Amino acid sequence: MKGTDVKAIRTITRDGIDGLEMRDLADPTPGDREVVIRIKAASINYRDLLLVNGHYPGCFEGEMTPLTDGAGEVVAVGAAVSRITVGDRVSVNNITRWVAGPLTPTVMVNQPGIFSDGMLASMIAVEEDGVVILPGSLSFEEAAALPCAGVTAWSALTDGGRPLRAGQTVLLLGTGGVSLLGLQFAKAMGLRVIATTSSHDKANRLKAFGADHVVNYKDTPDWQEAVRALTDGKGVERVLEVGGPGTIERSIASLAYGGHVSLIGFVGGMEGALNPLSLLTSGVSLQPVGIGSRTQFEELLQLIDANGVRPAIDRVFAFNEFKDAFAHVASGSHFGKVVIAVD
Ligand SMILES: NC(=O)c1ccc[n+]([C@@H]2O[C@H](COP(=O)([O-])OP(=O)(O)OC[C@H]3O[C@@H](n4cnc5c(N)ncnc54)[C@H](OP(=O)(O)O)[C@@H]3O)[C@@H](O)[C@H]2O)c1
Repeated sequence: MKGTDVKAIRTITRDGIDGLEMRDLADPTPGDREVVIRIKAASINYRDLLLVNGHYPGCFEGEMTPLTDGAGEVVAVGAAVSRITVGDRVSVNNITRWVAGPLTPTVMVNQPGIFSDGMLASMIAVEEDGVVILPGSLSFEEAAALPCAGVTAWSALTDGGRPLRAGQTVLLLGTGGVSLLGLQFAKAMGLRVIATTSSHDKANRLKAFGADHVVNYKDTPDWQEAVRALTDGKGVERVLEVGGPGTIERSIASLAYGGHVSLIGFVGGMEGALNPLSLLTSGVSLQPVGIGSRTQFEELLQLIDANGVRPAIDRVFAFNEFKDAFAHVASGSHFGKVVIAVD
């Protein structure tokens, strides 16, 4: 591998999108256990906005390359690399050293795009442990949509609580990246989906996307009652809780006895509280989701490949339109993932 300078988008200042600039970097050289990937596509998550705005707690504070999610082709491997070869089409698990089993605090710091340089560059070096090989059915743009929101949705559907069986019902909140990908995976698993959203237009799009029932949470503030009515009073088996303090009590009230809350995010704001009595009286279990391991990412790729799932992409921006791409995510108008074609 010889040659051209690497183009990377760098956070020069942390005062928003205007603090991002394209720069030339030297070609990366792989360490013994690293691979070099020519990045073809990257995608933006909510937390990337926090990082470029200077609001991500504990992240690397100096100039860096943002974005945790990307996909591309391997162009060089280190001397001790054994699973991956030059030419492989790959993506990278967000927590690169979390291979399998439960999450431990020691691996949390191995997150390119948060604690070290991330994916918004034409070439990067990453640890082999985090690399997953892509099925031929996925384009680079589709694969780049998966590492954060997709793996999170998959973990939330499959980890913790009683395993879901085909025909059972899952509740998804809003139309963010986690919830929309969760809808696609839930349908591939044979689950019934009830989704909430804020507008009639998005409700129609959710139905076209496969949601069995949609509840508008603006028109129906006590949406948990509508969810129970849609399940003949029984409640759903699982909720992917992206709302946070403002929605958690309603999510618990939507569950069947013994159901499960996968605790993911806080798009509904920080106001609100959880009364432990709600858990005691409903018999529900609750487990936080921390994205997922490489093994969970690999399981997800199998599901996607076997079922022909095409991850929901709102829009693909060109590399030099990176500021527009960030602004589009910041506007909140997207329905599906926002991707940047890097190469
Ligand atoms: N724990 C983890 O491992 C993990 C991983 C990834 C993300 N997260 C977190 O999960 C959350 C979702 O991430 P994302 O990438 O899907 O976010 P996103 O794409 O930014 O989600 C935005 C959507 O949230 C919906 N929303 C806003 N307020 C809502 C409310 N009160 N009730 C229901 N929906 C509401 C809106 O959809 P509608 O207009 O359709 O309502 C909006 O379009 C974020 O807080 C993120 O930080 C956590």
